[in-house]
Amino acid sequence: MADYTLHDPDGRTVARFPVLDATVGANSVDVRALLDTAGITTYDPGFSSTSSCNSAITFVDGDNGVLLYRGYSIDQLVEHSSFVEVAYLLLFGELPTPAQLQSFTHDVTYHSMLHEQLSSFYRGFRRDAHPMAVLLGVVGALSAFYPDSIDVFDPRQRLVSIERLIAKMPTITAMAYKYTIGQPFVYPRNDLDYCSNFLHMMFSVPAEPYEPSKILSKAMNALLIVQADHEQNASTSTVRTVGSSRANPFACVAAGISSLWGPIHGGANEAVVNMLQELGSKANLPDAIRRAKDKNDPFRLMGFGHRVYKSYDPRAKVMRRIYEELLEELDLGNDPLFELAKELERLALEDDYFVQRKLYPNVDFYSGLIMKAIGIPINMFTAIFALSRTVGWLSHWKEMIEDPDQRITRPRQLYVGPAQRPYADIAHRSVNGSPAKLPAGPAMPGEKSIVGG
Ligand code: ACO
Repeated sequence: MADYTLHDPDGRTVARFPVLDATVGANSVDVRALLDTAGITTYDPGFSSTSSCNSAITFVDGDNGVLLYRGYSIDQLVEHSSFVEVAYLLLFGELPTPAQLQSFTHDVTYHSMLHEQLSSFYRGFRRDAHPMAVLLGVVGALSAFYPDSIDVFDPRQRLVSIERLIAKMPTITAMAYKYTIGQPFVYPRNDLDYCSNFLHMMFSVPAEPYEPSKILSKAMNALLIVQADHEQNASTSTVRTVGSSRANPFACVAAGISSLWGPIHGGANEAVVNMLQELGSKANLPDAIRRAKDKNDPFRLMGFGHRVYKSYDPRAKVMRRIYEELLEELDLGNDPLFELAKELERLALEDDYFVQRKLYPNVDFYSGLIMKAIGIPINMFTAIFALSRTVGWLSHWKEMIEDPDQRITRPRQLYVGPAQRPYADIAHRSVNGSPAKLPAGPAMPGEKSIVGG
């Protein structure tokens, strides 16, 4: 493909930029020299048209609803692989041989316990703390407990940190749940596979025996695989940005958790089930569609729309199928919430507003229903998403550190503030443009004393 050429308004060539070839998907114009050669920057809020890095991990074709991990389709991986196998694939680029899988499984199994002192750390949280707040704090604190693996320049330490994080996330997540419901923490069992062990730590109690169900474990495996990576999404880009300063991987993953928590990113799975429960019956769906279309109403259809997918999200397809299988295997009959979700999908996909904007169900639309059927409470949904996405975050973090082209992330800006001006003495300042007033709303605890009461 030819280079891209930039002309000035008189048609004179200002600069030429090489085009970098993608294996599949869109090529990239290499604009690294743009500022130096042409004295201008590109403007792309939200990075809709900007490739921030090279990556060989995940490929998404949003127009055709394709999602590949290292070239393998998500459906096939869900069908044939375990989550640990997929973690190996994402991290190292190839599906493991039996010996490689055995060795990797051993490593992530034998790192699953937490430093015992971390349990006191949990006790510092309020019982009603959101599990994502707990996860954020505990994962950030890991760097204080495992300082022997935070030298990011040492490949061996990097690998140990990766194994520690993948092994400990189920333990950390299950402990966050146990803490909020006031049950004792449950230690991991090394004789169980990754997903069964997670269910064991979530649902067993010391008072009676618990054997994790194979059906639920299989559903959990599918859920974790589907959510494991999604190329340069908000939380993964956050992890890369934080890691670009050579922060340790525990700090990077804590940053990923923060980003994932947002209601229009990973928090959407929680929002979907809350929305369906609030809607309650099919009679309320037309009004929900009307509100979602009203620009003066902040209500959006949660679990709908995606920056990249302009067709049906392939993850939503897998999630819907897995949920149908789960209902059948558990003999749960017709779940009213599932019926509501399917009807909402039908109405939206027949509506011009959603059709024209290419808004389809995304991964979160059905994943929450699966977690609900497994017995996971709604406020744990995003935490489980974080447990799964940790593998994707670490794969990208590893790829970034190993990439010779990688530099500290430092975007430019289009400055639109005042040009340099003389200092304004306090006696001569205008009130215009200084809205130091809080927006209206009920008083917050402590507010009176702060805001001059
Ligand atoms: N309900 C109603 N309208 C919507 C929705 C929705 N769920 N999503 C997008 N739109 C509309 C927007 O209002 C906009 O309309 P306009 O062109 O008339 O202004 C148009 O569709 C394009 O939407 P943007 O917000 O510009 O798209 P963007 O790519 O920035 O956002 C996002 C994508 C954040 C996912 C958005 O679709 C959304 O908020 N969806 C609901 C939250 C959700 O489900 N998030 C999970 C995403 S998947 C994940 O993170 C794991």
